[in-house]
Amino acid sequence: MHQNRGYSNSLALKYPLKKEQYPMKHIAAPFTLPNGAVLKNRIAKSAMSENFGTRHHAPSKGLINAYRVWAKGNPGLLITGNVMVDSMALGEARNVVVEDYKDFELLKQWAKSVEGTGVHLWPQINHPGRQAFAAINREIVAPSAVPLKMGGASKMFKMPTALTEEAIWDIVKRFGTTARIMKEAGFTGCQIHGAHGYLVSQFLSPNSNVRTDQWGGFLANRARFVLEIYREIRRQVGAEYPIGIKINSADFQRGGFTEDESMEVVRLLGNEGIDLIEISGGTYEKPAMITGDRKKSTVDREAYFLTYIEKARKLTKTPLLLTGGFRSVAVMDKALEEGNLDVVGLARPFCLYPNLANQIFDGSVARFEAPIPSIGIKFLDKLGGVELPWYELQIQRLGNGKSPKKNLPGILAFWFSLKSLFLKSFWKN
Ligand SMILES: Cc1cc2nc3c(=O)[nH]c(=O)nc-3n(C[C@H](O)[C@H](O)[C@H](O)COP(=O)(O)O)c2cc1C
Repeated sequence: MHQNRGYSNSLALKYPLKKEQYPMKHIAAPFTLPNGAVLKNRIAKSAMSENFGTRHHAPSKGLINAYRVWAKGNPGLLITGNVMVDSMALGEARNVVVEDYKDFELLKQWAKSVEGTGVHLWPQINHPGRQAFAAINREIVAPSAVPLKMGGASKMFKMPTALTEEAIWDIVKRFGTTARIMKEAGFTGCQIHGAHGYLVSQFLSPNSNVRTDQWGGFLANRARFVLEIYREIRRQVGAEYPIGIKINSADFQRGGFTEDESMEVVRLLGNEGIDLIEISGGTYEKPAMITGDRKKSTVDREAYFLTYIEKARKLTKTPLLLTGGFRSVAVMDKALEEGNLDVVGLARPFCLYPNLANQIFDGSVARFEAPIPSIGIKFLDKLGGVELPWYELQIQRLGNGKSPKKNLPGILAFWFSLKSLFLKSFWKN
């Protein structure tokens, strides 16, 4: 356990800022994590699945290059898109998978993408559980045999097989192994993907976890999986290495993981000594991470999950990162000034404004819109069937040395999404 490691939550500036820089004075302040690692400012690029690995799930040259581009933009922290712990469990066809040393040289190159910038680079480590397309996975596993309920889009998934006790421990171990290999490759920390309805989040939710053994039932049992993953990673990477988690504030579904339960898990992880907790929300069934909860109060405040983080702050001293909806410097700075969060997470804006942190600091950008593209097919739009691939294509443009293209047609993203699923399904057979 690594309890009570001191950290600086102070917004005191480590270097003088000119008065005219006031609107971003809190954003520009460095932040020290419990283990002493310093983020040079309060801006994090949140994880975005790039779907840009090679056919064999290694990081591609383009993917590595996208991180070079982002590192030059100078955020405090870059969190990669989800890196899978098992090549038999893919969220997307071109996910990077790290389960052994076979791509170690490429992982080292990826870690080096931030060299000389002082930007932290953390992989987000994930297992998709039941949120895995049938076209690209032979068998789909989950806490329980409970299928996704997504209307017409449910057909793209299949009934998962409930994990055995042995298989659960194997996955726990895999999270640790992936984190350790990436640490050895040069990544400066890691993040567990505990949000958005993937496997960790499936264990937490009573909707997807109906187990009656030590992994299901009361919250203490449903939280066992994430706590064991944290402990295994800590065991494999050591006491001083930053470990974070992204967790749902809630599933926003009847009978699902509630806000109160989420706060209890935040408290438990904080007691274990985790270094940074990122707050998000939603699942494939209810994608609040992309849309927010659509309440007027949320829309008025721009950022999603602010009300949650205000409450969470009272429960834990662990540093908090909030992601979802931030689109203006003034709102970000005010949120930091209020002290309920320590780091601001941005995802989609980084696809269209790769130099975003620099632009914020030199005052050339005050607002950064990130549109929601669609092609008008409801279930696909709802799933992120167009929006996510549209942003993935923007990341691929960055990696291939091109500029973002704000007028990229939604239909291209739809085609890209279909093509990657179809081709992978073809290779599988
Ligand atoms: C293309 C795309 C891929 C994403 N992939 C991931 C992912 O791999 N892991 C994750 O935690 N969140 C993922 N997200 C969600 C973002 O990290 C973020 O929570 C969400 O987009 C809200 O932040 P924003 O309003 O700043 O975009 C993804 C979002 C997009 C647009």
